[in-house]
Amino acid sequence: MKFFIDTANLAQIQEAQDLGVLDGVTTNPSLMAKEGITGKEAILQHYKNICEIVDGDVSAEVIATDFQGMIREGEELYALCPQQIVVKIPMIKEGIKAIKYFTDRGIRTNCTLVFSAGQALLAAKAGATYVSPFIGRLDDISTDGLSLIEDIRQIYDNYSFETEILAASVRHTMHIMECAKIGADVITAPLSAILGLLKHPLTDAGLAQFLADYNKGNK
Ligand code: G3P
Repeated sequence: MKFFIDTANLAQIQEAQDLGVLDGVTTNPSLMAKEGITGKEAILQHYKNICEIVDGDVSAEVIATDFQGMIREGEELYALCPQQIVVKIPMIKEGIKAIKYFTDRGIRTNCTLVFSAGQALLAAKAGATYVSPFIGRLDDISTDGLSLIEDIRQIYDNYSFETEILAASVRHTMHIMECAKIGADVITAPLSAILGLLKHPLTDAGLAQFLADYNKGNK
């Protein structure tokens, strides 16, 4: 299972990288704006900065919604760091065409804003490297995001699709654990949800006891 961090915050990306378990980064225009990164040049430079911090895949999202625009932007993003950049493309008709275009040229893609199994099937048919179902946003509207991951897992396994299921819009640690049980290939999560995996009160209590006992015998 791959762990991606879902942020454009360089300090958090560095912290996750330093933990030694990070396989990549996902961003989106909203996450860029949250960090105050605006304007084309600044955004491109920010992607380069992210690629310098991490070793793995960095999803970089196109803004265009027409085929030619997505191709132009996607090629520009890919050229920033061909080993790491995965072109992130929205699940729309023109996006499917763009995914197929990039697939045919060996450029990896991440199909984003996926909310149904049918969309995920189409993304796999177009050859997307990753498909990003947004589980938290489905939960937000009283629809079970995790059952979408289960459905996509079953469909991809039925036909041995190689597209990796990248569970996105992960909001908390239990989302990560449930995705792991279902068999999502990748989760992308905020740093807090990843660090939440560390926590257990019995670990803290046990460690405190070990240290106290050590200190009693080693005064
Ligand atoms: O990975 C997609 C993610 O950035 C969206 O998350 O929390 O805005 O639904 P959220």
